[in-house]
Amino acid sequence: MAQDKDDTKFAGLRAAKDRMAGKTLKDLFAADSQRFERRHVALGDLVFDYSKHRVDDDVLRALFALARAQGLEEKRDRMFAGGIVNPTEHRAALHTALRNMAGTPVLVDGRDVMPNVLAVRAKVAEFARGIRDGATRGATGQAFTDVVNIGIGGSDLGPAMAARALAPFGHPRIRTHYVSNVDGADIGDTLKPLDPATTLFVVSSKTFTTQETMTNAGSARAWLAAGLGDAAVEKHFAAVSTNLDLVGKFGIPPDRVFGFKDWVGGRYSIWSSIGLSVVIQIGPEAFDAFLSGGHEIDTHFREAPLEQNIPILMGLIGVLYRNAWGFATQAVIPYDQRLGRFPAYLQQLDMESNGKHVHIDGTRVHESTGPVVWGEPGTNGQHAFFQLLHQGTEVVPIDFLVAAEPTDADLKHHELLVANCLAQSQALMVGRTADEVKTQLEKGGMAPDAIAALAPHKQFDGNRPTSTFMYRKLDPRMLGRLIALYEHRVFTMAAIWDTNPFDQWGVELGKELANKLAPIVSDAAAPTDGLDGSTASLVEHRRALIAKG
Ligand code: F6P
Repeated sequence: MAQDKDDTKFAGLRAAKDRMAGKTLKDLFAADSQRFERRHVALGDLVFDYSKHRVDDDVLRALFALARAQGLEEKRDRMFAGGIVNPTEHRAALHTALRNMAGTPVLVDGRDVMPNVLAVRAKVAEFARGIRDGATRGATGQAFTDVVNIGIGGSDLGPAMAARALAPFGHPRIRTHYVSNVDGADIGDTLKPLDPATTLFVVSSKTFTTQETMTNAGSARAWLAAGLGDAAVEKHFAAVSTNLDLVGKFGIPPDRVFGFKDWVGGRYSIWSSIGLSVVIQIGPEAFDAFLSGGHEIDTHFREAPLEQNIPILMGLIGVLYRNAWGFATQAVIPYDQRLGRFPAYLQQLDMESNGKHVHIDGTRVHESTGPVVWGEPGTNGQHAFFQLLHQGTEVVPIDFLVAAEPTDADLKHHELLVANCLAQSQALMVGRTADEVKTQLEKGGMAPDAIAALAPHKQFDGNRPTSTFMYRKLDPRMLGRLIALYEHRVFTMAAIWDTNPFDQWGVELGKELANKLAPIVSDAAAPTDGLDGSTASLVEHRRALIAKG
């Protein structure tokens, strides 16, 4: 049998990991008073602390050797140069061109894409200014107060996450709303308090064919026409898409259509005109600062040596945990209420990119690829799932994100927030030994037999790995930096696994089957034979429930 390319890939890394056996994070700190100094990277006001990870010089050497052996730097340079890094869709992946604030040429098929990028950005800015200053009004002559973005996946999660993150930078008159689910409750509940006369819809869809988005856009249009008449539709809709033909058919005038190119993946599209609702909310200048943050990380990713490269370190440590330690999930816990949607955003970014079972050449992967990514803001998570993180049988590497100061919130609250964030990573690392528990309980006067019974429950193993990202405050530039860091982390991991992080064939089967089932669900007389037993019975059961009324 031919040797599989995964067979020996992680041998060096696993050997280095084995050589660390028995060395805990506490031991590593005890042995090296300079550990934080040596195991953090500062980039402007951002500090990436990776000192609480199961890495020593030996493990890091193995990780950098792995990165070099897998051609990480060459793959990275190919992506930035507009190479076809997404061969299953025959596309480049150039979301980095959208935030190329240096304006240097970026060539695809020998043509510079930057003039088009800049022209679309200017068109978006002009439209957003009109909405913000009230020069562009609805059919009744009133200024817009509410902007409803209709999209799903990358056409929703990015702008929805950013809108919440950047709420303090928002226009005082304008509220933004995000409708994604085909569940009618989503659009129904969103529209209930809104006035059609002051509502602008932005239909965001790369393909302009997505079932959920097109269904919601149709309902929005009907709602608007019912309130203001059909003729008002063109003044109350804008669209963002790569499919300009279909947008035209929907009836949205060309001056309200904002394109982007197929080399922008859905989950990488927040930087494109998909960010329109955010530009309206925070203004073009603040959006430029967001783009600049992303660009700054691109420069760092391209230029910093591997050893000082934050996204590369993030990705390699992720590979260590996935492929040497076998940890199945990765938590992201922002100690920032306004980053409440950041974990959901990262779920798509990471799991749609790295949830792959074949290499880029189509051969089967025999090692683990992308982890399950999940999370919720702290401190709330502490009172929900942190029990498992501290004492469960699964080890979950965690990213903690925290700002030094609040953007627009009470400082006293913020100090408690920071203290909690630091306390969690400290507790996860140091744990609490049985002896420490015993001493504590003895001090409290507990009887020896009660102590013996209780101590195992109160003991923490510790040695649980975490990263901490600390930055001055969550502003547009910082948000841009954070997103780009995670994008390049995802890229780094895919480069090691030799998988394609830019396609998403795994979502197609479900879409196809939903389209086939939709007429069977809608028509009570449609035959269900031909369906598998479970699906047919569930359809029949629903029919029976509805028939009973
Ligand atoms: O179903 C997955 C997906 O294709 C995502 O990759 C994408 O972000 C989302 O659907 C929405 O697609 P579109 O922007 O084309 O409506």
